[in-house]
Amino acid sequence: MYIIAVNGSPRKDWNTATLLRKALEGAASRGARTELVHLYDLAYQGCRSCFACKTRGGKSYGACAVKDGLSPVLAATGEADALILGSPVYFGTVTGEMKSFLERLLFPVLTYTDPPGSVPLYHERHGGADGQLRRCGPCRPERALPHADVRLIGVAPLL
Ligand SMILES: Cc1cc2nc3c(=O)[nH]c(=O)nc-3n(C[C@H](O)[C@H](O)[C@H](O)COP(=O)(O)O)c2cc1C
Repeated sequence: MYIIAVNGSPRKDWNTATLLRKALEGAASRGARTELVHLYDLAYQGCRSCFACKTRGGKSYGACAVKDGLSPVLAATGEADALILGSPVYFGTVTGEMKSFLERLLFPVLTYTDPPGSVPLYHERHGGADGQLRRCGPCRPERALPHADVRLIGVAPLL
């Protein structure tokens, strides 16, 4: 079991980080391999709307084509069994860095279908047993990433 916790706070030892560390400690005590990512350590931007991730048959279909400080984290999420997302509430929602992270994490795997679905290729690529499409509402990481168990800590109603 590989679990990644993502800290959307600029502070590495305050409320959000404390909750995330406690969650990871619990997971590690049950044998999980854990990693804590501090988004504010990374140089990256939100989605550029290049649509390379939407080009069927393209090398980036279902994955973010932008290469920057977030790329290793996005790659690791594909290997993870669970993601724990933590963010302080800033002006009624998650922090800007968490929002940018979510744009890059979620947009590549969403399809413009009604209801919105997730790219089956992504599911298959990352170990999905059946490639099953799952319904996904707007910006719901726990629905967009069917291969992983996604838990949200301290986030706002936006999610
Ligand atoms: C720029 C900014 C905006 C904030 N906006 C809100 C808010 O809208 N609602 C709220 O309850 N707290 C708000 N807070 C307080 C933080 O959410 C709160 O202090 C949080 O616990 C900080 O998390 P951290 O210790 O992990 O950094 C804001 C803090 C900052 C710095």
